[in-house]
Amino acid sequence: MKDRKSFPQPAKQAAQEFPIAFPNEADYTTALGVAWAPGRVNLIGEHTDYNDGFVLPIAVDRVTSFAGRARSDDIVRLWSSHFQEYAQFSLEGLPGTFEQHRATLPGWARYVLGVITELVKVGVKLNAFDAVLLGDVPVGGGMSSSAALEVATAQACALFSDGRFTIGDEQTTLKSMEVAALCQRAEQVASGVQCGILDQAASCLGRPEQATLLDCRSLEYRYLPFNAPDIALMVIDTTVRRELASSAYNERRKQCEEATRIFHDVIIQHEPENEAARSIRALRDISQEQLNRYESYLPDVLRRRAAYIIAEDDRVLQAVKLLETGAIDKIGPLLWASHAGLRDEYEVSCPELDILVEIAHQVSGVLGARMLGGGFGGCTINLVHNDSIEALRQAVDEQYPARTGLNASIDICRAAGGPGIAWVS
Ligand code: GLA
Repeated sequence: MKDRKSFPQPAKQAAQEFPIAFPNEADYTTALGVAWAPGRVNLIGEHTDYNDGFVLPIAVDRVTSFAGRARSDDIVRLWSSHFQEYAQFSLEGLPGTFEQHRATLPGWARYVLGVITELVKVGVKLNAFDAVLLGDVPVGGGMSSSAALEVATAQACALFSDGRFTIGDEQTTLKSMEVAALCQRAEQVASGVQCGILDQAASCLGRPEQATLLDCRSLEYRYLPFNAPDIALMVIDTTVRRELASSAYNERRKQCEEATRIFHDVIIQHEPENEAARSIRALRDISQEQLNRYESYLPDVLRRRAAYIIAEDDRVLQAVKLLETGAIDKIGPLLWASHAGLRDEYEVSCPELDILVEIAHQVSGVLGARMLGGGFGGCTINLVHNDSIEALRQAVDEQYPARTGLNASIDICRAAGGPGIAWVS
C-alpha cells in the first residue's frame, strides 16, 4: 500500500470528489480507498495477440482510478467524473442478472459490471461499494482506457473486499494474468469486440521504464528495458473514431482463423509426414517459409492478412533483440514497416492515421511511427529524439488540419508502473 503522496494525480482528484458525489457518511462502514490501473501503448505486435503471437506493450503514466468506500448492502453505485453521470446495479443474483443490468447501464458502467460479473463467476467474495471514477487516459483514443477501467475495477473490488480477495503474483486469490484474462472476457461482453489479451495484460503487468514481451499463447511474459532519456514516446491522436472498428476487428479475426484452417489442411495434404502440421492452431504456427510455399492456396485477402501477421510477429522478436542490447534507437524501421503492413495488407488504417505517419516520416529525428491498437482511427505512436519533439509538433500543427480539416492532439508518455491500491483515510 502506498502513502498518499505517491498516488497518481487522478486518484487524488477522485478522492477529493468522493464526498461531493456521495455525501452521506452514514452509508459506510469503512475508510476511503483508491485503486488505479494504467493505459498502454503497444510498441509493436499489432493484431498478433488473437493469433497466439507476440506483443510488446508499455504501460503508460496515464491511469483510470476509483476512489470509494465499501457498503454493507449489495448495491454498487458509481459516479463517472468524465461522463458526469451516476450508475448503479446490485450484486445480488450475479452472474444470472448480468444481462438485465447491462441493458439499463450506460456504456462505461458496463465494463465495471462485466468485470464484477467475471469475478463472481470465478467464485470471488465481493463487497458492494460506492466510487468515483476519474482518469487521464484519453477515452476511446487508442491507449486502452477501457482496459484501464477494467483492471482498476478488479483492483477496487480487491481493496473493498476486506482482504477476502487479493491480486498479485504470489499467494494471492488471483494472479495478475488471471485478472487480465478475466478483464478481457469482460471487455468482449461489454463491447461486443472479440479482442485479444494485449490491452488488459499490458495494464496488469506494467513496470516503470520497461516494456513487456508477452507470448499470447503461453501467456508467459518478461520485461525489457525501455529507458532512453533522449527518446520520447509521442502519442498523436487523429481524433477520429469509427463505428466500423468493431465489426472490422471481428472480421479480421475470422479471416485469420480461416487462413489458419486453409494452411492446416494444405500443409497436411502436401506434407503427410509433417507431424507438427497437425497441431497448427493459429497463424503463429506458420513460418515465413511455409507462407511463401503455400500462399497461392489462399484467396488474396486472406493471403495479405496472413502475410502481415507472420511478418509482424517476426518484427516483435527483432524489436526484442534490439531492446535487449539497449538499442531503442534502432527499432524505428520496424515501426514504419509495421504501419505499412497494417495499412496495405491488414487494411485497418485510415487516411488520418496514414497522414500522421507520413508527416512524422518527413521530420528528421523521428525514429519511427505507426498506428496504434485496433485501427480505423485513434492514435499513432512515435519514437522521437527529444531534439525533434518540437519539429514534429509543428509539422503536425501545420499539415494535419490542412490535410484533414481536423486538429490532432499530442501527448508525451513515459513507461510507468502497473495497477495499485491504497487507503486514503
Ligand atoms: C485492440 C484489442 C487488442 C489488440 C489490438 C490490436 O486494442 O483490444 O486485443 O488486438 O486492438 O493489436
